[in-house]
Amino acid sequence: MGAKTVLGILGLGTVGTGVVDLLRDNPQFEIRRIAVRDIAKPREIDLSAFEITEDPFQLADDPEIDIIVEVAGGVDPAFEVIKRALTSGKNVVTANKELIAKHGPEIFDLANKHGVTVFFEAAVGGGIPLISTLQRGLQANRISRVAGIVNGTTNYILTRMEQDRKSFDEALREAQAAGFAETDPSDDIEGRDVVYKIAILSSLAFQSPVEVSKIFRQGITQIIDLDIILAAEFGYRIKMIGLAQPGVGDTLDVRAHPMLIPIHHPLASVEGVNNAIFISGSAVGEIMLSGPGAGKYPTASAVVGDIINIASALKLPDFARYFQPPISSQVKPVYPIDETRNAYYIRLETHDTPGVIGKLGLAFGQHGVSLHSVAQKGVTSSGTATIVLLTHTVREKQVQGALREISALPTVKQIGVLLRVLNH
Ligand SMILES: NC(=O)c1ccc[n+]([C@@H]2O[C@H](COP(=O)([O-])OP(=O)(O)OC[C@H]3O[C@@H](n4cnc5c(N)ncnc54)[C@H](OP(=O)(O)O)[C@@H]3O)[C@@H](O)[C@H]2O)c1
Repeated sequence: MGAKTVLGILGLGTVGTGVVDLLRDNPQFEIRRIAVRDIAKPREIDLSAFEITEDPFQLADDPEIDIIVEVAGGVDPAFEVIKRALTSGKNVVTANKELIAKHGPEIFDLANKHGVTVFFEAAVGGGIPLISTLQRGLQANRISRVAGIVNGTTNYILTRMEQDRKSFDEALREAQAAGFAETDPSDDIEGRDVVYKIAILSSLAFQSPVEVSKIFRQGITQIIDLDIILAAEFGYRIKMIGLAQPGVGDTLDVRAHPMLIPIHHPLASVEGVNNAIFISGSAVGEIMLSGPGAGKYPTASAVVGDIINIASALKLPDFARYFQPPISSQVKPVYPIDETRNAYYIRLETHDTPGVIGKLGLAFGQHGVSLHSVAQKGVTSSGTATIVLLTHTVREKQVQGALREISALPTVKQIGVLLRVLNH
């Protein structure tokens, strides 16, 4: 057996603790240093065998360390530490979706320049070996679409709303109590987490990054239990989806928003905190990978898999470069959401007056939007009627045009929600 691979670990929270647990008795690795924010914080594991520091740059500057494992999260200081580590010839494993989504191309360029590598299997889909599947297993394919449930928190909330008839707020509180949602859940429920993850998946599937700030985002906060019930009556389940597919011309259609998924589509059956990614490839056809998208050991499984892969690569001359993601630094424009074509589910709150549905039909018709189904659900004591419509496939800007007109109608109180339908 060769010499030990020496590790420096930045972060000892949920994932970092799992990584230390999985590696501490492995004779092939030595954990040299661990950086944390607060050295005095009580820890659930015995750290007497390790050097602990509050200065993460000590890891990057330690000449003995072969691989930096970044499981702290956020851009600062992770980005600077990783850059310094790569510049001094260290390989990097990170679980940091935000960093890879925002600064991936710069990080990969720097790694290439210094003949080292960056692995990030845990950044999307937690324990599901998804990045390596896209990077290596599907190389023979032209990918036509990646559609994924990549946020366990929102999938848990939507599942509880459907199965237990919970309101959004009740389901969120339950998710927080069960440890599946943060105290501040906004990154998850507003869709930012999905934006980062679909940006990464898109860059791997289509070999070009997009500007993360241009990705269309809609969270799940406007969805009410009635939407879930009516979607089911129409033959769908509502899921928070990251979608990436070629747009028109040189663009990429990348977005993060809830969608109605046909009940027989494999993504519709993914429940609770699980994640799943549905990939359409020219040679393989359609595949779906599913499993735990977060959690201490599933995520540590992906991180440690990366560490072991790099350690093997380090034993072979010039092998690490081979693994570098084939992502060009040429950023492709995001296809504008207004130009995309979808079928839509629309919930409107109106006054219960005669002829409302006729007026809605007229407004949609004038904008070239044809309706597939219309349902009116109950009238409240305050005289509010809920009308739900399902459209045929149409360009988004036509629907938006119709809705602008509709929201100005005196009989319409508000547009409750607009959701897109996943087509085949
Ligand atoms: N949790 C999951 O299931 C999961 C799944 C997939 C990916 N990830 C990703 O994995 C990463 C870590 O997530 P986590 O859930 O393990 O986070 P966490 O529990 O909040 O732990 C973060 C760790 O980083 C340390 N840290 C933060 N800022 C630091 C700084 N400036 N200098 C030194 N140490 C610092 C913290 O130190 P203290 O302990 O002293 O506060 C803590 O140990 C994130 O990028 C996350 O997106 C997590």
